Amino acid sequence: MIGQGAGIAIIGSGSAAPAQVLDNNNLAQLVETSDEWIKTRTGIGKRHLANPLTSLSELSVQAAQKAIAMAGIAAFDLDLIILATSTPDDLFGSASKIQGLLGATKAVAFDLTAACSGFVFGLITASQFIRTGVYQNVLVIGADVLSRWVDWSDRGTCVLFGDGAGAVVCQATQEGDRLLGFEMFSDGSQNSSLNLAYQGQPKTLNEEVAIASGTYQPVTMNGKEVYRFAVEKVPEVIEKALYNANLVVEDVDWLILHQANQRIIDAVASRLKVPAHKVISNLAEYGNTSAASIPLALDEAIAQGKIKAGDTIAISGFGAGLTWGAAIFKWGK
Ligand code: COA
Repeated sequence: MIGQGAGIAIIGSGSAAPAQVLDNNNLAQLVETSDEWIKTRTGIGKRHLANPLTSLSELSVQAAQKAIAMAGIAAFDLDLIILATSTPDDLFGSASKIQGLLGATKAVAFDLTAACSGFVFGLITASQFIRTGVYQNVLVIGADVLSRWVDWSDRGTCVLFGDGAGAVVCQATQEGDRLLGFEMFSDGSQNSSLNLAYQGQPKTLNEEVAIASGTYQPVTMNGKEVYRFAVEKVPEVIEKALYNANLVVEDVDWLILHQANQRIIDAVASRLKVPAHKVISNLAEYGNTSAASIPLALDEAIAQGKIKAGDTIAISGFGAGLTWGAAIFKWGK
C-alpha cells in the first residue's frame, strides 16, 4: 500500500521510564498476591512508576529528545507532534506543553486518545500527513502514567500497569515508503470491558439546570474479556496489515505487540507461527505501559542492536475502546 505523495521513513527512536521501581514482592505487601502468581499469569516482574513530581510531559520530552537526536534533526524542524496518551497532565491536552518544552516552535501539536492502541494509531495518523505532502517531520510519542489512575487496592488491575514514554520521528522521503501496510479497528459495543471513566454526581445549579460534578474513577477491567478479545483480534489485524503490505508472516523480522501480558504475546505469536526469537518483549521489566509500550520496546531493541536498518517490523496495539490496529514498516533511513 504505497501512497501517492511522499513516502515515510521512521528514522529516530527514544524512550524514558521513571527510575522508581516496584517489583512483585513489593506489590505483595500492598495487595494479596505473589510474585509467582503475577509472573505465571502475566510475565510481569516489576514496573517503573513516576514519582509525584514527575509529569507525563517530562517523560515524553526525555523520550522525544532522544528520538530527535537519533533522527539527526533539530526540534525546530518538526512540523507536527502527536502525543498518544490516556493520562495527560492536563485534560486539555499535553502535546502543546511538550512542544514548548522541546522548543519545537514550528510544530502544531495535539493529543490522540486510543488507550493502548494509541501509538499505532498515532503513527498511522502521522503517515497520512506525510503521504499527502503536508508535513516533512513528525514526532509521534506514546506515553502514559497509569499508576495515577489505578486502584492500588485492586489486585486484578494494579499488578498489570507501569509508567513510561517512547517516541519516534517520521520523515518524508522520496526513496520508497517504509510504512508498508496498516489496519485499524474499533468496537464500541465492548466499551465496558476496560474503562477509566468519568463519574459525576448530579449537582443542581438552579431550579432548572443540573450538571454532573465528579472526577475520573480508577481503571476497571474485565480481564477475561480483554484477554479473549486480544488473542482473537490481534493475529487477525496483523494478517490484514500484512496482506495490505503484500507480505506474509515469514517476511517479518520482528514482532512487537503491545506489552499487556506475556501469555497474550505468546498466544498471538503461536497463532501467527512467528518463532520466539523474532518476538520482542520487555514486559518483565515494565509491565503494561499502555501507549508507551510499543515505542519503548522498539527503542530498547534498537539500542540493543537487535533491530537493524531495513528490518521489517510488525507492531500491533490493542486495548480500551475497544480499539486495535497493526502497522508493518521497515525501520531506519
Ligand atoms: N494475585 C493473586 N490472585 C489474583 C490476582 C492477583 N494479582 N488477581 C486475580 N486473582 C485471583 C482471582 O481473584 C481469581 O480467584 P478466584 O478463582 O478465587 O475467584 C483467580 O486469581 C483467577 O482470576 P482470573 O481473573 O480468572 O485470572 P486470569 O487467569 O484471567 O488472569 C489477568 C487475570 C488479568 C492476568 C488476565 O485476565 C489478563 O491478563 N487479561 C488481559 C488484561 C489486559 O491485558 N488488559 C490490558 C489490555 S490493554
